Amino acid sequence: MQLLDGKATARSIKQEIAEEVKKMKADGAREPHLVAVLVGHDGGSESYVAYKIKDCEEVGFKSSLIRYEDDVTEDELLKCVHDLNKDDNVDGFIVQLPLPEHISEEKITLAIDPKKDVDGFHPQNVGQMTMGLPAFVSATPQGIMELIKRYHIETSGKHAVVLGRSNIVGRPMSILLSLKGDPGNATVTVCHSRTQNLKEICRQADILIAALGHPGFVTADMVKEGAVVIDVGTTRVPSDKTKSGFKLTGDVVFDEVAPKCSYITPVPGGVGPMTRASLLINTLKAARASNSK
Ligand code: GUN
Repeated sequence: MQLLDGKATARSIKQEIAEEVKKMKADGAREPHLVAVLVGHDGGSESYVAYKIKDCEEVGFKSSLIRYEDDVTEDELLKCVHDLNKDDNVDGFIVQLPLPEHISEEKITLAIDPKKDVDGFHPQNVGQMTMGLPAFVSATPQGIMELIKRYHIETSGKHAVVLGRSNIVGRPMSILLSLKGDPGNATVTVCHSRTQNLKEICRQADILIAALGHPGFVTADMVKEGAVVIDVGTTRVPSDKTKSGFKLTGDVVFDEVAPKCSYITPVPGGVGPMTRASLLINTLKAARASNSK
């Protein structure tokens, strides 16, 4: 069994990005600029955004945080999106989800200029990704593809089973794995809450991607000997052993599943750091495109 070390891989990617930023600046271009829009004070969103800003600093990007209280109106938030779309000093931006109930996430996502949509959530980017055309790809599936690529894991002709069909992770993951390419060319099954015989399907997986947000869902009896297991789960479970008062818990029971695997991601230190690195990759790509305008 080999660990898929997302932390070390993300560190290498960040070094590569930092090098490129240095070159861009030496060539007279400004550094890439990412803006994060944060509404309210949800603990998870606060810490995700703080990490995104810290990552930007580490690679030499400029970053800005725009904060709104929970009672911001949809129109105010739409105006913010339109302003960011027009701002030539901003290469890419994200509106951290979830948003308060009175704001339509769909409306906000649709308002973002696809060229600045470094989250890859806009239907134009999703559509282009689905056709194998250049697009911003959602950070977690893109990060997993990068991890698979850098560990030279064979996907062609393999049976990949994706647990979860969210717009952000499960569905794009299933599409990327099935597209022509390397990695890619996999035979993909998507399982969800209505799937029958889920355990049997999982047992057929050469590559099992667990993206349900259900701690401890994948047990050893669901995994084929020699499978590659990717754990996307990052549920915050209360813990009195950590300073923060919670610990990130995956969808896979690591201790019993790991001995059966050829490769497995740990939680934390697997998919999470790759997701963060992916947002930097997308922001760099957006900056390259706006520099060449
Ligand atoms: N909420 C949870 N994950 C994400 C993400 O990748 N982007 C945004 N904008 N919100 C999120």
